[in-house]
Amino acid sequence: MNNGVKMPDYYRGVYKKWYSWFSHIYDPFRKLFFFFFNGGFGGEKRFQELIIEWINPQKGERILDICCGTGTLTIMLAGKLRREGRVVGIEISPDQLRVARKKEKPFGLSFLQVDAQDLRFSDCYFDKAVICGALHEMPEQVRKNVLSESYRVIKPKGRIVIVEHNKPDRKWKAKLFDFLEWFNPEYPTYENMLECGLTNEIGSAGFRIIKTGTTSWEYLQIVMAER
Ligand SMILES: C[S@@+](CC[C@H](N)C(=O)[O-])C[C@H]1O[C@@H](n2cnc3c(N)ncnc32)[C@H](O)[C@@H]1O
Repeated sequence: MNNGVKMPDYYRGVYKKWYSWFSHIYDPFRKLFFFFFNGGFGGEKRFQELIIEWINPQKGERILDICCGTGTLTIMLAGKLRREGRVVGIEISPDQLRVARKKEKPFGLSFLQVDAQDLRFSDCYFDKAVICGALHEMPEQVRKNVLSESYRVIKPKGRIVIVEHNKPDRKWKAKLFDFLEWFNPEYPTYENMLECGLTNEIGSAGFRIIKTGTTSWEYLQIVMAER
């Protein structure tokens, strides 16, 4: 475990100050994002269905949603397990969690306020995990800590699905996405994550990459890896 890990000040500022107000509009913003980038109405639902297809939840499994935000994906995931498994959503921002906890929760789901660098679960506790749209907010060392903690809590042969920003091969598209992200306070870590390469970082944590893909007009990449 990474007990007592240092958290760079600017990163702490991003998630504390930014999410204290962003949490209020996070859900409509997410819907709007997927409306534009994933085919109009129903775009967010289609995106989530796709991620759940990649996770492929099975009866009796324990699944961890790391940095679950306002819990939209976590709740849908727990709904798919239909009481026959356990889903845990962990999140560092109390403001994001407050929104998540107000939503109707299917049976077998819990939300916990936990830093993903120091997951409070025993080794190999989970069958699967997902990290959706969170690594790009983190400085390099924090990403390393989060990925190695994820590795620790997943069973051998267990899987992780990671969804992150993407740099498409087509230059004009890459430039457009870079321009849009430039307005994001998380731009420095976003840029650094793309430079380091998501699959490189997942591989360095010990995972074996199984499958990669893109979604939402290539704005996002999806990686499935095995412990
Ligand atoms: C862009 S949101 C994505 C939320 C959610 N996974 C989704 O798909 O909507 C990123 C989330 O990661 C959380 N986060 C950032 N650093 C974290 C950490 N070290 N531990 C736990 N959560 C963290 C933020 O508070 C934020 O809610």
